[in-house]
Amino acid sequence: MSSYMQRHWNVLLARSSSSQRGKRRAYHGNLSTSTDMSPMKFEKIIGGKKDYVHVAALPCSYRGLFTTEEYGIEVGQRYAENVRNVIDKIHTQERQLAAFFAESMVSCGGQVLLPKGYLAQVYKYVRQAGGVCVADEVQTGFGRVGKHMWAFELQEDVCPDIVTIGKPMGNGHPVAAVVTTKEIARNFKGLGVSYFNTYGGNPVSMAIANAVLEVIEDEDLLTNADMVGRKLLDALQELKQRHPLIGDVRGVGFFIGVDLVKDRITKAPATEEAAYTIARMKQEGILLNAEGKYENVLKFKPPMVFNAENAESLVKKLDVILTEVENKKPCRESSTSSDSSSSDDGLVSTSSSN
Ligand SMILES: Cc1ncc(COP(=O)(O)O)c(C=O)c1O
Repeated sequence: MSSYMQRHWNVLLARSSSSQRGKRRAYHGNLSTSTDMSPMKFEKIIGGKKDYVHVAALPCSYRGLFTTEEYGIEVGQRYAENVRNVIDKIHTQERQLAAFFAESMVSCGGQVLLPKGYLAQVYKYVRQAGGVCVADEVQTGFGRVGKHMWAFELQEDVCPDIVTIGKPMGNGHPVAAVVTTKEIARNFKGLGVSYFNTYGGNPVSMAIANAVLEVIEDEDLLTNADMVGRKLLDALQELKQRHPLIGDVRGVGFFIGVDLVKDRITKAPATEEAAYTIARMKQEGILLNAEGKYENVLKFKPPMVFNAENAESLVKKLDVILTEVENKKPCRESSTSSDSSSSDDGLVSTSSSN
């Protein structure tokens, strides 16, 4: 099943009602229908936000509207209430909720782990309002989180109505799929607009997708992601002790983010420093990306065969490069800098970098 089908079908399903929801800085695909619900894209287009799309706060416990620092274990509940408020607003506009779209861990938004209890509560609110819950597992699925095949399984008591899967499904080969309940599939069939795609379910793609599943199982790649991911996370935490440039290290399995800051107190994003680090890591043969609204979060999403030796070598190189950055431009451990300000979504920005 092609990714075109994945996108097209989702939106058809969602459009059977009149409102869609996304999350700040989310990305769900390239088609106009998926761009419509990807703030990362539509926020750059004048008039890009469609009136049937509603954006909830990015549930980032480190630099979002609600932080663990301030709200402790209640942070998931706070973000869930933010979603409930958005649903209330949809209703005051005399609209109905169609669907809630969210990645099970937010990739482009800055390698954000959903806070404890968030999805269970959000799904409850969405279903109470008659919406369906869509989990985008395009980046996070197929065992990347280590202990589970799907990242939504990290959240307690959660079962999405629709799951979209892609990227790792073919290990480079273009194949994607939508998984849903019998009830939703029957409703879709009932619309009478049957889905057809020339390449959907073609034997070559299916053989490749099956082979990927077999390798994941035979080589126990979930355990590898879990164990090597832990090592990598621990080593990055240790780097944080020595590098003031690192504000936060977060992640699970092979889905890790390192949030670079100019200042640990203001959390002013170290965007240029991230770009420099990525360019230097590339010279060392390691490809990283910068994620988040400020493109200051180093994204670690290594291949599933990444091993302990690879992790060690990566961290050594990063250590050297972060030292280089810090020697060029000192980062402060703490400060009461007056040139920082809080934006409407609780993110901290500085006049110099933004
Ligand atoms: C989270 C997420 N969802 C959806 C997509 C779109 O997938 P595709 O490129 O297969 O249409 C992407 C692609 O990068 C993605 O990262």
